[in-house]
Amino acid sequence: MKLFVYHTPELTPADDLPDCAVVIDVLRATTTIATALNAGAEAVQAFSDLEQLMQESEAWSPDKRLRAGERGGAKVEGCDLGNSPLDCTPEFVGGKRLFISTTNGTRALQRVEKSSIVVAGSIINRQSVVRFLSEKQPETVWILGSGWEGGYSLEDTVCAGAIAQSLMSQGADAVTVGNDEVVAAIALYTQWKDNLLQLFHQASHGQRLLRLNCDEDLKYCAAIDSLDVLPIQRSPGLLVKL
Ligand code: MLT
Repeated sequence: MKLFVYHTPELTPADDLPDCAVVIDVLRATTTIATALNAGAEAVQAFSDLEQLMQESEAWSPDKRLRAGERGGAKVEGCDLGNSPLDCTPEFVGGKRLFISTTNGTRALQRVEKSSIVVAGSIINRQSVVRFLSEKQPETVWILGSGWEGGYSLEDTVCAGAIAQSLMSQGADAVTVGNDEVVAAIALYTQWKDNLLQLFHQASHGQRLLRLNCDEDLKYCAAIDSLDVLPIQRSPGLLVKL
């Protein structure tokens, strides 16, 4: 298995795709997706475009759908929820399809949606991603951070490092480093692994969320390996629980 880390969708090679893409948006899209599926959502359908989300979700009866919209960290007016994983309780999302559009995370999912396998990774389900990759052994794996509007995000890269580090410690012979970003991501994780929440407080998007009073979201998103769930793409943009 050859591992590549890309900090943002814009940094991925334009004319290539991996055997397996692991899309990461720790704060907060992929954390929310994992939480919703773990709480019994029927599926999560991701859109980079809000208009399209509104149109496609219209075909679903209101008691079977939830519209989650986030821009700039805040809930989009007219949606049922924003992008807080804490809203994804079994009572609220159970049995429903979550139609979601976020600033960066859903765009990252779209960038690699044509890959043979696409899964959603975050700090909370890190070990589920590692187990899946260890069992499946895809030849090439891209761990793709969502970043923020084309820029680097500490929280996504530290999660990429957490996945890479765990994979390499389990089967050093079978896992090879595909680009320098893998080494850098592991170094970031090694430096911060016992203080992930503190790192999130320093991250620019962490600070944006703190200004929006999302302190509890940061705590939840930093709880490593707290959920055993793997969101996997069934068809482009549609994620289900494996
Ligand atoms: C994003 O897609 O940029 C995020 O998930 C933003 C957020 O809601 O925290």
